[in-house]
Amino acid sequence: MAGKITDHFKQELLARVDLVDLIDARVPLKRSGSSYVARCPFHNEKSPSFSVSREKQFYYCFGCGASGNAIGFLMAYDRLSFPEAVETLADSVGLQIPTERPGKVEDQQRNPSADLYEIQDRACRYYQTQLKSHPAAARAVEYLQQRGVSGELAQRYRLGYAPPGYRNLPNDLPQDLLKSAGLITAKEGSGVYDWFRDRIVFPIRDRRGRVVGFGGRVLGDGAPKYLNSPETATFKKSREVYGLYELLEAVRKPEFILVVEGYMDVIALAQFGIPNAVATLGTSTSEDHVNLLFRFTHELVFGFDGDTAGRNAAWKALEASLPALREGRQLRFLELPDRHDPDSLVRAEGTESFLARVKTARPFSNYFFDHLAEPLDLRTIEGRAALVKLAKPLIDRLPSGVFREMIEQRLIDLGGYVSPEATDNSAKLVGGRNNPEKANRGKPTLMRMFLALLLQNPPLAATIAAESRRILARAEKVGTLIERVLELLDEHSDLNSGGISEFFRETPAESWINTMIGWETLVPPDKIQEVFSGTLAQIEKQFKAKRFDDLSRKLMSASELTPEEREELRTMTYQ
Ligand code: CTP
Ligand code: MN
Repeated sequence: MAGKITDHFKQELLARVDLVDLIDARVPLKRSGSSYVARCPFHNEKSPSFSVSREKQFYYCFGCGASGNAIGFLMAYDRLSFPEAVETLADSVGLQIPTERPGKVEDQQRNPSADLYEIQDRACRYYQTQLKSHPAAARAVEYLQQRGVSGELAQRYRLGYAPPGYRNLPNDLPQDLLKSAGLITAKEGSGVYDWFRDRIVFPIRDRRGRVVGFGGRVLGDGAPKYLNSPETATFKKSREVYGLYELLEAVRKPEFILVVEGYMDVIALAQFGIPNAVATLGTSTSEDHVNLLFRFTHELVFGFDGDTAGRNAAWKALEASLPALREGRQLRFLELPDRHDPDSLVRAEGTESFLARVKTARPFSNYFFDHLAEPLDLRTIEGRAALVKLAKPLIDRLPSGVFREMIEQRLIDLGGYVSPEATDNSAKLVGGRNNPEKANRGKPTLMRMFLALLLQNPPLAATIAAESRRILARAEKVGTLIERVLELLDEHSDLNSGGISEFFRETPAESWINTMIGWETLVPPDKIQEVFSGTLAQIEKQFKAKRFDDLSRKLMSASELTPEEREELRTMTYQ
């Protein structure tokens, strides 16, 4: 599918499908009041906290915070990418996806990547055959056996062998494609030769099982120990991980995914009955990796080698993960003993005790603060100030939402740091300060109530007076967000909550918006308009009081008021 899916089409699609039917076909729903409930498909629970609203076209789990519209549900439940989810929904209601680049059907059909996938698959089969039949393969088989890899596992991971010698890949494979796939290479003077020679070959497959590249290991001690395919049109190391396809074949809904450094770590763990591992491909963990993996699990565990390089890699992985972290997504850090990698450790200790280590791996917040505080003395003011200084820019990279609020609170507890919003009660949006467990529900501040009511009942937008709108646009922290929501509702008057949410997909405000849509206001339906107007009136009153304070203080401190400010103050005084 080419071209960009337009906002218009997404909205049309969201207006046509019914989220309740869509979910009910996968997770049977029960009616409960004005919504539908079930046990949440995204986390384990005994009593239902998963709720779907037909009116809002939005689902929300009060237990784990999973939330979204129809597109989001398919992405999360069926593990589809965004375009795949849109495609599936469009099919289900018989809509055609219009593309912004029409009329290039031929180009789309003759997709150059398709040829690459095919040649890589044929090469993969060739290497697999060589492992079984090439005269020189005995050493390779012996090597794998000695490392404890069973024939069954070699099959499952499609392991192969590239024989020694410069030209082995069969001639009936198109040479230009082999070249594009990086499987043969040309060197001046020596002509064309195979990229992988006398190596065990690990095919790297994408989520759909297509071979996108290869890794190759020398038998024994040669250098380089590992060689990977060069980056090609189908192979981007910062986007792929090794073993994900095989993992999802073995477990549909992994409770955790363990990210390790090496191919052999993945294979050894699978051999020991732990199919949950994937490996980065000799690169550091990227934000793309993290987002990819969070599509399939709620918990990522980083298990890097117990050496300095491994520890650095773990911290880098943490930094790359920050923008992807929000409520309902967990990160843990498994620290391996010195000189061990997951492969050697699981062999030394066995499955049970390896899993026990995974279960007790350090949670994100511990690792984060411990790492930063390690060189500091938090008993001193200087130490605490340094912690705040180090932590603040990192925390700023977390998306806004409950998770970030909890981490900010932790920093306040540790560093005695007072954030601007904590001192300003009128626009305070941070909830559940003293009770982190309850933070999910959030504290019913005026602004929260206002936003939740608005986002859950979009027609309310039409009842906001122009003057109120100007005041809202100036609200601290959320002013721009409110403006954006109101603009959207100006443009699309029949938007439902799910439709609003769609406009915030993959923006920093996404999780916040979704939390507000899912938040239980406990306002009875016939009181909504009244409570909404009342809340808005109070927000305005507080805003004016604060503004009056600020301006009078400015006046008394003898700084100049602008003519506009003077006028504003005057009308406030005499109204
Ligand atoms: N790697 C690489 N190129 C190298 C060395 C390593 O691309 N020259 C990547 C490979 O993806 C490898 C990972 O880094 O799997 C980890 O390397 P290392 O820890 O050195 O090897 P192990 O995984 O322990 O390999 P083995 O157990 O096979 O010795
Ligand atoms: Mn190893």
